[in-house]
Order: sequence, then structure tokens, then C-alpha cells
Amino acid sequence: MPRVYAISNQKGGVGKTTTAVNLGSALAMQDQRVLVVDLDPQGNASSGLGHHKALVEQGIAEVLLGQAALPDILRSTAVDGLHLAPASPALVGLEVELVGLPQREHLLKQALATVAADYDLVLLDCPPALNLLTVNALTAATGVLIPLQAEYFAMEGLSELLRTIAAVRKVLNPTLERTGIVLTMVDPRTNLASDVATQARQVFGGEVFETSIPRNVRLGEAPSFGQPVHVYAGGSRGAQAYHELADEVLIRAGLKQAPAAAPARKARQVAS
Ligand SMILES: Nc1ncnc2c1ncn2[C@@H]1O[C@H](COP(=O)(O)OP(=O)(O)OP(=O)(O)O)[C@@H](O)[C@H]1O
Ligand SMILES: [Mg+2]
Repeated sequence: MPRVYAISNQKGGVGKTTTAVNLGSALAMQDQRVLVVDLDPQGNASSGLGHHKALVEQGIAEVLLGQAALPDILRSTAVDGLHLAPASPALVGLEVELVGLPQREHLLKQALATVAADYDLVLLDCPPALNLLTVNALTAATGVLIPLQAEYFAMEGLSELLRTIAAVRKVLNPTLERTGIVLTMVDPRTNLASDVATQARQVFGGEVFETSIPRNVRLGEAPSFGQPVHVYAGGSRGAQAYHELADEVLIRAGLKQAPAAAPARKARQVAS
């Protein structure tokens, strides 16, 4: 069975989609079979992987409505081994349609079961809301990855997400784990980033990944080319950071061995 990670934070613009696309790409480059599922009506993960939602006739919305089978809607991407279940225009407003369906929280889990043999890891790009699409993601997931933007009040609102995770665990998915918190858009020139990191580590300890994602212009540019950063700017700091995050995720998943002793942080020479 694949590891399924919901990438969730109801706060907008914190790096969920950037993480889904580029962590997915980094994992695929380590020979993992990876599926990214775009659950956000904005369709940013789809366009970031080269498939604009306006051009998608059958996407994950049609699958959840029982109008298409998941294997039939999958797309390839610029990275071998990285596939996409795209958003289509029907994802807008889907939430309302799902409310009336039986088993409405379990629809994504049931769909993913049909491709379970084909993937090692599945990343669910959630919308910036704690709605039924996010509940479907949390119900289908083995773990949650929480991007946390290094900014003032970053931790505000996190308690709502943690309460939702706890509620889903109680009622819908008892084995759901909090896999980790990843600090995003870290600007190493400010103290703010280290303040947020320190605070997050005080509260959440080892739940916070050691790798944090720097603010990097290449990460912001890559989506407009429909490419993960590893294709667009493989030598960039952003690309490197997602490689390091992929290592940590694989270690936490038990898919890779941790290095015997924690090595000193390698200072690599990379282009911006
Ligand atoms: N580390 C980074 N460095 C530079 N730009 C970034 C970085 N991470 C994300 N961005 C940019 O910031 C914006 C928001 O990021 P992203 O779309 O990943 O957030 P999100 O949480 O998915 O947003 P939403 O809640 O709207 O779905 C995007 O324009 C993205 O390209
Ligand atoms: Mg997004």
C-alpha cells in the first residue's frame, strides 16, 4: 500500500502546492512511483505540472462523482515516475455536490484503492480550507504534512487544523499520523525565520522537519513553465531543499535508512 500524505493548511499561500509538486518530483527522482492529486479547485498543482485545468475534461472531480475511473484520468509530467490526477473545471462547486452522496468522506480513499498497486507515495494537494475535500484527503491519508510559512502569526490557525486532524482520527481514520511540519519561504537574511522555527520546534519538537524550504525565486517561476523546479532549475537552492525534504520524508516513511550519525549540514555550492 502506498504512503498517502495530505499536504494541508487552511491558510492560503503557505506553500502547499509548491511542496506537492516539488516534493513529488524529488521523490520520483529517487525512483519512487509518485502520484500527485490536485484537490484544489484553483488547479495550481495541475498547471504547475503542465496540465491546465481548463483543458482537462475528466479530472479528480469526475472520479469522486463516480463518472470516471481514476486510472483513466491520470497524466504524465515532465518527471519520469511522477503522475498527476488533475483538477478539471468541475472541481469548482464539487464540495456542494458531494454533500448529498453516501460515504461522502470516503470517496477519495475508495478511488485511491484502485491504483494502490501502482504507486509508492501519493501526495494530496489540499485547498486552503477545512472543507469536505480536505476531509476526504485526511480520510484517505496515512499522514499529514503541514507547510508552515515563516511569517508573523504563522502558528495562528494551526490549532484549527490540528483539531480537524484529531476529529478525523476519532471518527473516520484512526491511524492518521501527523507526519511533519515543514517551514516554507524561509528568508535566511531575517531573524524572523529563525524565530518562527524556534517557536515551532518548541511547540512541536521533532515533528518539525530539519529541512526548511528557502524563499527562492526559481520555485516561484517554475509553475509558469508547467515544470517542477528540478526540471526548470535543477541546480537551484529550491531544488536542493526539496531533495533534502524528500530524504527526510522517505526516512520517516521507513522507505530509506537514516544515516548512521547525523552528518553536519553540507554547505553545497549551488546557483540561485
Ligand atoms: N519557497 C518559495 N520561494 C519562493 N516562492 C514560493 C515559495 N513557495 C511558494 N512560493 C510561491 O508563493 C505562492 C504561494 O505558494 P503555493 O501556491 O505553493 O501556496 P499554497 O499554500 O498552495 O496556496 P493556496 O492556499 O492558494 O493553495 C506561489 O506563487 C508560489 O510560487
Ligand atoms: Mg495551493
